[in-house]
Amino acid sequence: MSETTVLHVGGAAPYDVVVGRGLADQLPRILGKEVQRVALLFAGDLNELAQPVLDALVAHYDVMALGLPDGERAKNASVANDCWEALGEAGFTRSDAVVTFGGGATTDLGGFVAASWLRGVRVVHVPTTVLAMVDAAVGGKTGINTGAGKNLVGAFHEPAGVLCDLDLLDTLPAEELRAGLGEVIKCGFIADPAILDLVEADPQGAQDPTSPVLAELVTRAIRVKVDVVVDDLKETGGKDGHPGREVLNYGHTLAHAIERASDYTVRHGEAVALGCVYVAELARSAGILAEDVAARHATAFGCVGLPTALDAGEWEELHATMKVDKKARGSQLRFVVLDGLASPRILAGPSEDLLRSAYDVIRAGGAG
Ligand code: GLY
Repeated sequence: MSETTVLHVGGAAPYDVVVGRGLADQLPRILGKEVQRVALLFAGDLNELAQPVLDALVAHYDVMALGLPDGERAKNASVANDCWEALGEAGFTRSDAVVTFGGGATTDLGGFVAASWLRGVRVVHVPTTVLAMVDAAVGGKTGINTGAGKNLVGAFHEPAGVLCDLDLLDTLPAEELRAGLGEVIKCGFIADPAILDLVEADPQGAQDPTSPVLAELVTRAIRVKVDVVVDDLKETGGKDGHPGREVLNYGHTLAHAIERASDYTVRHGEAVALGCVYVAELARSAGILAEDVAARHATAFGCVGLPTALDAGEWEELHATMKVDKKARGSQLRFVVLDGLASPRILAGPSEDLLRSAYDVIRAGGAG
C-alpha cells in the first residue's frame, strides 16, 4: 500500500489525517493562507529529518524553528514555558500557527503550547514515530507531565491536520518502531481484529518500515482511533455499554504505573503490551474473557518481540501508582477490559485479590 489515504475526523472542528509518503508539501494547503508565521517545534535530534518540512514552510511563511529536548521527561512545564517565551518574543498572534515534528512527547507538548497560546492557535502535527502516528497526534489530546504523573496538565485542542509520512519511519530505531506496535496491536484487540491477523501472519513485515504490511497496520490503527474520538471526543462516555474514548486506555492503567516506576525508561508501547496482557488476565480470572482470547494477547504482542511478562517494579509500588493515575475515579480503580475480541467494557473496583493474582500470573511469565 503506497498510495495516500485520507482519514476524515468529523465533529465541531473537522480535520484530515493524511497517511502516505513524501507529504511535507501538503503543509501549506493544510495550514491555509491566513497564517503568516509558523513556529516549527521539532524534537532537537531530528534536524536533518525535519528539513523537507522546513523547506515546505519557508516557501510560504515566516518560520521560527524551535528544537526541543525530546522524550517523555522533557514534556514538562519548563520546556512549555521556553516555547511560550519564544512565541512572545516573536510576537505570535492568533493568525499564526504551530507545526510539531517529532514523537508523541513532542506532539503532546507542542499541541499544548498551541492550545494555550492566546487560548488556542492552529496546529498541524507531523508525527515521526509509529506511536505518535497512531495515538498522540490524532484526537486533540495535548498535555505535559508533572511530578505526580503523566499528562496531568493539558487541554483538548484538535489539530488543523495530521500528516503521517511513512518515509519518516525509515530512520526510526527498530526498538522504537516495535514499541509503537504496542498501540497498534491494542487497537486490534479493542476494535479491529484484522490487525491481529496481519501481525501474527507477518511479524517481520509488521516491523519493516518499507513494508505494505506496516502501512496497512498504521492506517487501520489510525482508523480505530478516528472512529473512537469522533464518537466521544471529550471522553465523556460511549453508547450502549461501550466505554467511549476511554477504550483507548486499554492496558494503560498498569502501563502508566510501569512507565513511572521505571522513570520512563520502559517505552510506552512496551508498557502498553504488558498492561494489555495484565488486563486480559484480570478479565480471564474474573470470568469475563475466554481463555483463548486472553492467551492471544501474549501471542500477538510477543510475536513482534514486545514484552509479555512483568518484571518491572514491585506490585505494591505499581498498585499504589495505579491508584493515583487519572483513570482511577474516586477511590475505585477502573480498567477497560474485553468480554470478547473487539468487545470492550469497564471493570470498576476489582477486588485486591483479583488484582494481585492477575499480577502473579503475568509475573510468572504468560497469560492464561
Ligand atoms: N491516548 C488516548 C487518547 O487519545 O484518548
